[in-house]
Amino acid sequence: MSVTPTDPGARAPRRLLVTGAGSGIGRATAELARGLGWSVVGLDLRPAEDAPYPVLACDVSDERSVQAAFDGAARLWEGRAPDAVVHCAGVYRFRAATSTGAADWDSVVGLNARGSMLVAAAAARQMIAGGAGGSITLLSSIAAVRGDAGEPSAAYSASKGAVEALTRQLAVEWGPDGIRCNAVAPGVIDTPMTTVSGNPEAFAQVLQRIPARRLGSAEEVARVCVFLASEESSYVSGVVVAVDGGQGAA
Ligand SMILES: NC(=O)c1ccc[n+]([C@@H]2O[C@H](COP(=O)([O-])OP(=O)(O)OC[C@H]3O[C@@H](n4cnc5c(N)ncnc54)[C@H](O)[C@@H]3O)[C@@H](O)[C@H]2O)c1
Repeated sequence: MSVTPTDPGARAPRRLLVTGAGSGIGRATAELARGLGWSVVGLDLRPAEDAPYPVLACDVSDERSVQAAFDGAARLWEGRAPDAVVHCAGVYRFRAATSTGAADWDSVVGLNARGSMLVAAAAARQMIAGGAGGSITLLSSIAAVRGDAGEPSAAYSASKGAVEALTRQLAVEWGPDGIRCNAVAPGVIDTPMTTVSGNPEAFAQVLQRIPARRLGSAEEVARVCVFLASEESSYVSGVVVAVDGGQGAA
């Protein structure tokens, strides 16, 4: 697959905003796009100072913080909207369902589901005002479609189910404005979020469930995020792309 650094005929580099750009999949996506010559702005709770692109402080679960960060990105782009947004900021908390209280639920669903809505809405407002449409990619998970007996998190699974429903709804609602909305559903990826690799017994069990018999890398997910953010996927909208080494098919 080749991903062109700019739209055919376009003069300016493609503008990409990546949330969760300080770590894991978000960082890999931002770095890959930057390497392709795109103009990248990251958002993160803890902005990385060593990143070769601006990373603005933002809490994606907070409406005002999200709007302020999108305003800040627009200032960096001289008032222009992003061409694409990849929303990677999220949390996972291993907790048995019987121990999941309201605070646990709200902290996970309130970040993963609400953050996806707030980020997508802020992106769409700018894209609609800019009149050029765009691409929004949300991050789901294999947990949206498969239960996990080993390290369960009911709140996390529900939050990612919400992300997939949101993806379809937004693709339909904003399609006439030229905005595509898709989700990427990683399996088990080797990032700081993944706790299972620290537990050899659980790790061996997880590998048995993955046909590829290995964890994915952040870069392998980033390549799909960048494809969906690019014009290479110009007629792809409303879908969830699994990047899971075949786990969803097993
Ligand atoms: N790693 C996996 O195995 C895996 C599997 C399936 C889905 N995912 C999803 O992929 C996405 C990225 O995961 P990752 O593995 O790169 O995780 P990560 O923990 O490496 O990175 C997550 C980033 O989000 C940021 N973040 C957390 N809360 C935030 C907030 N309130 N506001 C702004 N930024 C915030 C963190 O600071 C961090 O930089 C998440 O949505 C996750 O649910 C990951």
